[in-house]
Amino acid sequence: MLPNGKALFKLQDDQQWLDLMIRSVSEPTIQGVEMPRFPHPDLQRKLVGSADALALREAFKFYKYVKAYSEALAVPLHPKTQALDFGCGWGRYTRMLWNDIDADSLHGVDVEPETLAICKGLGTPGSFFKIDPHGPLPFEDDKFHLIIAYSVFSHLPKKLADYWMAELHRVARSGCVIAYTTEPRRFLDFILEIPSPPQTSWHAGLAKFKEVVPKLYQDFDENKFCYIPTSGGEGLDSEVYGDAIIPERYVKEAWDKYFKCFAYVDDPRQFWQAVVIGQKP
Ligand SMILES: C[S@@+](CC[C@H](N)C(=O)[O-])C[C@H]1O[C@@H](n2cnc3c(N)ncnc32)[C@H](O)[C@@H]1O
Repeated sequence: MLPNGKALFKLQDDQQWLDLMIRSVSEPTIQGVEMPRFPHPDLQRKLVGSADALALREAFKFYKYVKAYSEALAVPLHPKTQALDFGCGWGRYTRMLWNDIDADSLHGVDVEPETLAICKGLGTPGSFFKIDPHGPLPFEDDKFHLIIAYSVFSHLPKKLADYWMAELHRVARSGCVIAYTTEPRRFLDFILEIPSPPQTSWHAGLAKFKEVVPKLYQDFDENKFCYIPTSGGEGLDSEVYGDAIIPERYVKEAWDKYFKCFAYVDDPRQFWQAVVIGQKP
């Protein structure tokens, strides 16, 4: 059993964990502990738009926010917290949560086999499972105390987002805290401002939809779930992956029965996407 980072390295505060994670980019062994290795920076960028220290700093911000909310909602993180990272990518969030949570209580799922091979192959703390885009999850009912999904509900079409919220509710125990992100209204401004020629395949994919943005503003202001079938700019199936812009009212009206929404934070000084915090009744 691999204990949590705080116990393993006798850390005093969370900042030391971020420092240690950043050191691990270039130091494979720290204080005799073999650290999880990192995918090539290009692969990290392809998955999350940044790499190494920058990607870890972004993850640390969200992790700290989630940790504070978990405490405020009376579910403080501890070594045996059962945690799920839904859409785990290359595993930067299980690395963050490993600060407080023992490795055998950390779980990650993703639809891309490549990401799971990366997580397992690089020695990322946690158990990792490949799932189908249409579900279900390979877990029993009422298992998790904490679920995070960073930059995942910003990509799912309405039908799948509704399905996954119900499925996450199934595996969450009562009181489970959920923290996820979505695109806020200002994402539509961002699409209109994409310069020509676009810088990346993702920007190019989005720019093709400039014409529908006026209708999307209207839909958003009527509290409708908005979805742009961009395929992530990487040729993914647009039936299961694109860009989703979800109003706060939609979150509350459609999903409060699964997770009561405590915060919908649309603040670009803190987070690039909107952050939503909920709790299973
Ligand atoms: C932008 S990446 C974010 C990765 C990770 N959450 C992070 O921030 O480091 C989105 C991830 O969600 C995964 N994904 C897409 N659709 C999914 C689904 N239906 N269920 C679970 N994961 C999904 C993708 O394969 C990808 O790894």
